[in-house]
Amino acid sequence: MSTSGKINAVDLIVRKREKGELSSLEITSLVNGYTLGDIPDYQMAAFLMAAFLNGMNEAEMVALTEAMLHSGSVLDLSDIPGKKVDKHSTGGVGDKVSIPLAAIVAACGVGVPMISGRGLGHTGGTLDKLESIPGFSTQMDIGAYRRQLADIGVVMIGQTAEIAPADKKLYALRDVTGTVEFIPFIAASILSKKIAEGIDALVLDVKCGSGAFMQNEADARQLAETLVQIGERFDKPTVALLTDMDQPLGRRVGNWPEIAESVQCLRGDGPEDLMEVTLALAAEMLLAGGVAESLEEGQELSSQCIDDGRAMEKFVRLVESQGGDPDAVRNPETMDEQAHTADIRAPENSAGTVARIDARIVGRAMITLGAGRTTKEDDVDPLAGITLLVKQGERVPSSGVIARIHASSEDRFAATEELVTSAFEFAETVSDPGSRLIDRYSNGHWVNP
Ligand code: URA
Repeated sequence: MSTSGKINAVDLIVRKREKGELSSLEITSLVNGYTLGDIPDYQMAAFLMAAFLNGMNEAEMVALTEAMLHSGSVLDLSDIPGKKVDKHSTGGVGDKVSIPLAAIVAACGVGVPMISGRGLGHTGGTLDKLESIPGFSTQMDIGAYRRQLADIGVVMIGQTAEIAPADKKLYALRDVTGTVEFIPFIAASILSKKIAEGIDALVLDVKCGSGAFMQNEADARQLAETLVQIGERFDKPTVALLTDMDQPLGRRVGNWPEIAESVQCLRGDGPEDLMEVTLALAAEMLLAGGVAESLEEGQELSSQCIDDGRAMEKFVRLVESQGGDPDAVRNPETMDEQAHTADIRAPENSAGTVARIDARIVGRAMITLGAGRTTKEDDVDPLAGITLLVKQGERVPSSGVIARIHASSEDRFAATEELVTSAFEFAETVSDPGSRLIDRYSNGHWVNP
């Protein structure tokens, strides 16, 4: 392979433009050249668009994932006893599942090394949620990450410079060149970061519906299949659940409000839909981690460790280990009470039950309120959020109050209220919200969960 990235890059761009295939070595040289700065943004942008328009086959996707994975450190956690399993969600509105899930799974004896991202756009990020706990730090070097995992079985941090640096650079370029929504790039981006964490197996929550990255079910299925196939090519047992994100998950949206609802979950008092998704993913992780022999057993073990308080205690230990205030999570009401609130009422003459709450509109309302970001530099208000007091299939109370908004100040309340109201659809007849679990993909097959 030539050492001149520029000459190579043009050949490779032209080949992709003409719908040709690139070898694994060529893809590696492209990714390495770009990460090291030998290939400029304009050439990589041209390659990204050519690939976006003409597609990549499985061998190319594997090579891209491999090159991105090895652009930084690939952690080896094999000296820490037991299996380590992580979960990745494609994200959604009210999706705080990682927080109770990590505590439940670790309390059941499977290690959870979790490296997460920040929220951008209408979906929230696990890091922003965790950082709403006073004192909680998501920055840690790899030595401390390993020690905490060995010590308490769970660690939740942000992306470090050592993990898949190619992804960081490529994602920023994709973001400004219209090349984000392409399954091979999404799969390589997610898997390179997750495999670099040192996991033994991976569970994916691929969401579809109005509040999801993939709004269309066919696209979400294709992403799930691709992620599982590529994950397996790296000898990491990978399974995907396809879950519904047409409506917000749980009743609370926003950073601190989602921590408070996660605590409710860990106390066995979480909303039904959130518990359903959390326990289904926990069962998958316990099965993959070798602690349960079946998904049924995984669900039972997860429920037991919630009922006997181990899951909540594990969460408190996680918070303490990362510098957070344990009293804040033991008594979430105290932080909630610091927020200003306003009630939102159903429009006059609306029908008596909630037929649907559009997750995407709730996500937009969350940004308006100051709980989300439109650019990476935006600050978030940790207390800002929305509580959905009535959800699909429930009756509007006689007071007419359907939601409550919370924030550190009331400045943005007026702009948010109308948006929250517009997310609600009403009907006379009660509709059954049904299950949030749509399907499960593993070993090349879809099987309803
Ligand atoms: N999440 C990621 O980590 N990468 C993508 O490309 C898309 C979503």
